[in-house]
Amino acid sequence: ATYKVGYIIGSLAGRSINRTLSKALIRLAPPELEFTEIPIKDLPLYSYDYDSDYPAEGKALKAAIAAADAILFVTPEYNRSIPGALKNAIDWASRPWGDNSFTHKPSAVIGASPGAIGTAVAQQSLRSVLSYCNSPQMNAPEAYVRFVPEVFGDEGEVTDSGTEDFLRNFMREYRDHIVRVLTVLPPRT
Ligand code: FNR
Repeated sequence: ATYKVGYIIGSLAGRSINRTLSKALIRLAPPELEFTEIPIKDLPLYSYDYDSDYPAEGKALKAAIAAADAILFVTPEYNRSIPGALKNAIDWASRPWGDNSFTHKPSAVIGASPGAIGTAVAQQSLRSVLSYCNSPQMNAPEAYVRFVPEVFGDEGEVTDSGTEDFLRNFMREYRDHIVRVLTVLPPRT
């Protein structure tokens, strides 16, 4: 079987290191996983005033999540939390009340930073949000990627075999997590 993974990059930056990381993850993922980016950059700032009439960007976000079997978050850490743009996208997807797109949707969290902590604090914050949104998230392995430019090519080539093995294993475990979750929680229609 194949599984559709929608990936969300938490950074809007043109030269995002997390976008580069996402390319590496796609290259190293097992063949059962098919990837589609779910864009977040054109979403207006959410307010519940929109709940009665979502704009096209909000509808497209929810449709893209619905069409995916699982969601992969690849995010930087901004000021020890997730970027506002990512939180905004999650708020959009979680509403209107009673129509939370993350319910029972398997997820995983990963991120890269030039610093030694490797987005650990942002990921912990994101995990709280995903718990509240009732997304069965992969607990382990965790992946705090210290981004070293020499190790990651622009197209996601990974030149360090230890890093390559680590990321390949992360994606295998993510596939197994998706399979397990979908076995007990079939997609809602
Ligand atoms: C950062 N950066 C950062 N790094 C980190 O490890 N912990 C942090 O709390 C922060 N805070 C932070 C705030 C803001 C507003 C910016 C712009 C940056 C540095 C950050 O990891 C670095 O810019 C990465 O390149 C961001 O990832 P993307 O956007 O390139 O994917």
